[in-house]
Amino acid sequence: MNEQIFGKVDQYISNLLAPEDQVLKDTIKSLDEEGFPQISVTANLGKFLQVMAVLSNAKKILELGTLAGYSTIWLARALPADGKLITLEVEQRHSDLARKNIGKAGLSDKVDFRVGKAMEILPQLIENGEGPFDLIFIDADKPPYAEYFEYALSLSRPGTVIICDNVIREGKILDENTSDEKVKGVQRFNKLLQSNKNVTATIIQTVGVKEHDGMAIAVVNRTDPS
Ligand SMILES: C[S@@+](CC[C@H](N)C(=O)[O-])C[C@H]1O[C@@H](n2cnc3c(N)ncnc32)[C@H](O)[C@@H]1O
Repeated sequence: MNEQIFGKVDQYISNLLAPEDQVLKDTIKSLDEEGFPQISVTANLGKFLQVMAVLSNAKKILELGTLAGYSTIWLARALPADGKLITLEVEQRHSDLARKNIGKAGLSDKVDFRVGKAMEILPQLIENGEGPFDLIFIDADKPPYAEYFEYALSLSRPGTVIICDNVIREGKILDENTSDEKVKGVQRFNKLLQSNKNVTATIIQTVGVKEHDGMAIAVVNRTDPS
């Protein structure tokens, strides 16, 4: 089996179940136009996030890492009329671009853009009582993934779904002696998932039109009412 087949099958699935409308296509194009990196989730993973939001009946979503708003659109489209999504982004220019794209998607009333370092905004969300969220998607810088996860837990309730992207990194997580800070960050996060007894979690490997990677999915355990 060669890697070409993964790309072709990914394309087959997205044609079948995750076709991009013009707004999503234009959002991807807007990254090239602004000279920003093409590091959004794929169409299939965008659809996967949407399925998770529907499955968890999400009314309140938190996203770390907005970029051009591509994953934001997939997620926000799963929200009911009174649903809300808060998305955090450190780069003002990324957030500005996302605001335009979300506007074109007709989702401005549902999406709340916060600009700044996630590490600084997350404690503010806790302090302001803006949680709990029904679904939290972590897709910002990788070194502090473990800390982001701890904050996500503080912003959760039993049943909250926490999804973290890029936790396999083409298998580089197998290298215990890595000096790559991104890999070290996700290794720490993956170990935390293993040891944290408050969540039921797994990691799904992802292959397709982008490089081999993985998404972690954790559900906060329902507490025993007795
Ligand atoms: C992989 S991209 C997000 C892609 C987006 N979720 C999507 O799939 O369409 C990561 C984003 O996180 C942002 N970011 C990096 N470090 C951050 C930080 N400390 N706090 C908040 N956002 C950060 C980057 O500027 C970038 O826009």
